[in-house]
Amino acid sequence: MSNEAMNQADNGQAVLQCTDLSMEYVNGPEKVQVLNQLNFSAYRGERIAIVGSSGSGKTTLLHLLGGLDKPTSGDVTIDGKALAKLSDAELGLFRNRSLGFVYQLHHLLPEFTALENVLMPMLIRGEKRKAVMPRAMALLERVGLGHRVDHKPAELSGGERQRVAIARALVGEPACVLLDEPTGNLDPNTAESVNQLMLEIGKEHQTCFITVTHDMALAQRMDRVLKLDQGQLVEQPKEMAGA
Ligand SMILES: Nc1ncnc2c1ncn2[C@@H]1O[C@H](COP(=O)(O)OP(=O)(O)OP(=O)(O)O)[C@@H](O)[C@H]1O
Ligand SMILES: [Mg+2]
Repeated sequence: MSNEAMNQADNGQAVLQCTDLSMEYVNGPEKVQVLNQLNFSAYRGERIAIVGSSGSGKTTLLHLLGGLDKPTSGDVTIDGKALAKLSDAELGLFRNRSLGFVYQLHHLLPEFTALENVLMPMLIRGEKRKAVMPRAMALLERVGLGHRVDHKPAELSGGERQRVAIARALVGEPACVLLDEPTGNLDPNTAESVNQLMLEIGKEHQTCFITVTHDMALAQRMDRVLKLDQGQLVEQPKEMAGA
């Protein structure tokens, strides 16, 4: 039985599914076929690594999975909802409730503190600041930033900003978190604590994590490793030593 078949048996319905997903960029006379009829499912509580060379389309894929961009053809379904069928307003609401996103560049709001950046998705949801403050503080502590909550992004290091972005993606307890190189700027110890956090949150809330990474050691510690190559995702056998 393949890893995917085993995960399906364990976890039931897919939390995220894409069907025949294609993305082609057109720049004048030049066409770049980045994704080519890609099929992929992810299940509750799964941690999946997506690897692939620079320019293979990993960020493009994450943006389509997160509804930040529209595919040339094919569908993305998350938590049973087909993203293409949602209006822009519905998509915004859905993303706020069901998805967390950690961008390759962190995209924090520069005029707000670390704590306010983490609170923001919940305030947008209409929750009271006081009610969500303990959860936001606890997450900042778990990413090792309890002593930096009042710093604005410009007053944080690159790795600290990335950790704020991770706390922000987790605060709403989304079904699925998409991360683009979340540990790219982190030293091995901090990268490991982020990995541990994903493991714990995944167990606590059955969150599905889809992480783009160049870090093979991190990739090997996930449940599945998929390589993006020629516009398709190919399951990579996990080395026994890393499993
Ligand atoms: N808006 C765009 N218009 C045209 N081509 C684009 C556009 N965005 C990305 N591309 C091209 O699509 C390909 C995939 O880009 P993408 O950013 O998804 O790669 P990646 O796998 O995330 O790379 P990296 O590891 O360097 O972050 C690249 O060849 C890139 O030049
Ligand atoms: Mg990228």
